[in-house]
Amino acid sequence: MSAALRGRRILITGAAAGIGLATAHRFLTEGAAVAALDRDAAALGRLKAAVPGRTLTVFQADVTDADGVAQAVNDASRALGGIDGLVNAAGIDLVADIEAMAFADWNRILAVNLTGPMLMMQAAYPHLKAAGGSTIVNVSSAAGLAPLGNRMAYCASKAGLQMAGKALAIEAAAFGIRVNTVCPGAVETGLLRAGIDAAPDPAAAYEAVRARYVLKRIAAPEEIAAAILWLTSSESSYVTGTLLAVDGGRTFH
Ligand SMILES: NC(=O)c1ccc[n+]([C@@H]2O[C@H](COP(=O)([O-])OP(=O)(O)OC[C@H]3O[C@@H](n4cnc5c(N)ncnc54)[C@H](O)[C@@H]3O)[C@@H](O)[C@H]2O)c1
Repeated sequence: MSAALRGRRILITGAAAGIGLATAHRFLTEGAAVAALDRDAAALGRLKAAVPGRTLTVFQADVTDADGVAQAVNDASRALGGIDGLVNAAGIDLVADIEAMAFADWNRILAVNLTGPMLMMQAAYPHLKAAGGSTIVNVSSAAGLAPLGNRMAYCASKAGLQMAGKALAIEAAAFGIRVNTVCPGAVETGLLRAGIDAAPDPAAAYEAVRARYVLKRIAAPEEIAAAILWLTSSESSYVTGTLLAVDGGRTFH
């Protein structure tokens, strides 16, 4: 075991799958105690079974439910003995042109991808203040840096999350809390797969996504977890309010 997060107590949302799950596993390997929050109780059960012992606790909650979030964050803090770090990885995608996008779809994307992280940050804030030297990492998207077609709601939610993190970084600094944002490109997860499989020609859709990237490949979730680890660890101690593109080179040019 390496020890970049030895003794640190980290709450991770969306931790039952994809990027959040890879982050939970990496953080445990780095010596952290992890509270995994997700709406998917069955997947949380599988995660808990895979990680016996007391370094991992799991909490079922929907990040859009303010009361549920407050309860889960307090429960997580009690289980961990405090919270030194929050990672907001829970999120959902929507591929729809403006005419096909229902009002309810727009509201749901903003609720999960923007309001959810806000509720988590607000609920975790007193615990992060109490801990001192603490961190928040929000998982936004390269789609919040450079837009994609047929994804107006998703792009807007992710750009909003970037600015929320920057704004909070200013006031949180007084309490020793750093707030940073990771902007992944395409990552091999269930979220990406669902979008590809819904296309009329999934193989062509996958190729079109891959071709957007300078590195000409889709990322593994572990590559995003590595960036989240850096921004959560003291290795990034002079970094706050930043947007870190981990996007295979899609948005720098
Ligand atoms: N996969 C990609 O290509 C990609 C690219 C850029 C950004 N992202 C972002 O990364 C984050 C993680 O995505 P992923 O690809 O790992 O997705 P995923 O679908 O594999 O995992 C997301 C997890 O979040 C949970 N979740 C979703 N809505 C929730 C809610 N309302 N409350 C609590 N938990 C909820 C799901 O149950 C799931 O376990 C998302 O914010 C996503 O927008 C993903």
